[in-house]
Amino acid sequence: MLLGVNIDHVATLRNARGGKEPDVIQAAYICEQNGATSITTHLREDRRHIKDEDVRTLINTISTKLNLEMAMADDIQKIALEIKPHSICLVPEKRQEVTTEGGLDVAGQLKKVTEFIRPLLESGIVVSLFIDPEKNQVEASAKTGAQFIEMHTGSYSEAYGTSNEETEFQKLKNASELAQKLGLRVNAGHGLNYENVHRMHEIHGLYELNIGHSIISRAVFTGLPEAVRKMAEMIR
Ligand code: PXP
Repeated sequence: MLLGVNIDHVATLRNARGGKEPDVIQAAYICEQNGATSITTHLREDRRHIKDEDVRTLINTISTKLNLEMAMADDIQKIALEIKPHSICLVPEKRQEVTTEGGLDVAGQLKKVTEFIRPLLESGIVVSLFIDPEKNQVEASAKTGAQFIEMHTGSYSEAYGTSNEETEFQKLKNASELAQKLGLRVNAGHGLNYENVHRMHEIHGLYELNIGHSIISRAVFTGLPEAVRKMAEMIR
């Protein structure tokens, strides 16, 4: 399994003072030097963390792959088509949410999603859909032309260590099996940390995990190189 590090929280910290530090470009470099195989950023509609110029600089400076998380918004699509990240991950987005809540409802808006991602696919960008691990969402995703799904691991992460853990884990396992049967590649992320990530090894064929909060949090105590190295080691 590969490790994509989400560096949005580095930008959150920087924006708290409105200055230049900590530098997200340097953060991306450190992540890459310590085992990250891609750098993920979410260009949110309200630009609360990552800004347009961050993405424009990252695309020219990173040596791995830029994975741009984005909502179905025309202005962000325009930026993606212009800068051409390696991949985009389509996520639902609500202004009031603290972080991405729940997966994208692909089944309920199949035509809209299919049409939205078409120009991105045509321009050579790999497309991933961030969905809950549910059968109908996986089946719908397979009809859109997207190459990847990213399974939302938030419910599993919250249930970890409780009586619901197994139920939530099985949902991920089943969704991943179905997706691969339907020709999709499978990533996962959200809420994964140094305690719960080990079970991702039990899911056959997972390609990449996208992890942000736990790595940046640990970095406060250990430094970013050590935090990334440790997570990369755990998922390798
Ligand atoms: N994957 C997606 C699609 C996300 O929206 C997020 C959160 O921005 C993550 C992964 C990473 O989640 P976390 O910060 O909880 O590790």
